Amino acid sequence: MALIKKFRIKSYKEKQTLLQLDKISMFYNKRQILNNLNLKINKQEVLGMLGPNGVGKSTIFHIITGLKDPSFGKVYINGEDCTDIPIYERAKRFKLGYVPQYGGFIQDLNLLENLKLVGEIHIKEKDLRKAKIEKIIAQFEFDPLLKIKGKHLSGGQKKKLVIAMALINDPSILLLDEPFAALDIMTIKMLQEIIVNLQAIEKITVVVCDHQARDLLTCVDRAIVLSSGKIIASGSPNEIIKDSGARSAYFGDEFKIN
Ligand SMILES: Nc1ncnc2c1ncn2[C@@H]1O[C@H](COP(=O)(O)OP(=O)(O)O)[C@@H](O)[C@H]1O
Ligand SMILES: [Mg+2]
Repeated sequence: MALIKKFRIKSYKEKQTLLQLDKISMFYNKRQILNNLNLKINKQEVLGMLGPNGVGKSTIFHIITGLKDPSFGKVYINGEDCTDIPIYERAKRFKLGYVPQYGGFIQDLNLLENLKLVGEIHIKEKDLRKAKIEKIIAQFEFDPLLKIKGKHLSGGQKKKLVIAMALINDPSILLLDEPFAALDIMTIKMLQEIIVNLQAIEKITVVVCDHQARDLLTCVDRAIVLSSGKIIASGSPNEIIKDSGARSAYFGDEFKIN
């Protein structure tokens, strides 16, 4: 499969760290999920997090958003310790957008009503709100879907809606939890293009996770591989698939991306 990311924005490498996880450990009851994990994400980087089911990817997103408190360690955004900042304040202050793996929209509201709902929470000024929603509708080509209830949208359309809802607040950081799961090839391609465009045009930093490597590696600048609570490899897609530790713990010997 050819890489769809035809150009790679290298300038993010020189930019400052936007998000930092510092010596994060996480226990559920007495079971350790994350073990002294350190991670820095640069401004405007698209970072992929890979690892098998149950390794702790969603837990990392919950710790970044504030949905869960780490057992040990700190979360920094823009250099500021935000470990104790509550979820809503953190999302607003640091402009965090989060797309959970499941749900994220109201089933019984139509697509337009879902967009308006988020707009009313985030944008007080009526004309600005209207303009923002119109821009999103055009960008995501939502025109034919506006009156369809959330529960009647296809899997890919639901995913697009939840990403669009996360974008209404003009996030600086967008967290996507397994956005490609259970979608068809064309929808995956469309989402990959959305991710690459968000970085290039909207200058957003994106963190995306998946338990399957192929779809994720085609749209990221850098990927990390998680295993047993730690990051065992980090690098560009081409570097990471050659990493012997990542191959033995995660990819397997047969894995190739092109
Ligand atoms: N609230 C919870 N209580 C106890 N164990 C949990 C809880 N949430 C997640 N876990 C466990 O933590 C591990 C990591 O979960 P998760 O972060 O959802 O993994 P991933 O997203 O990589 O599939 C799993 O073994 C899961 O069973
Ligand atoms: Mg998960």
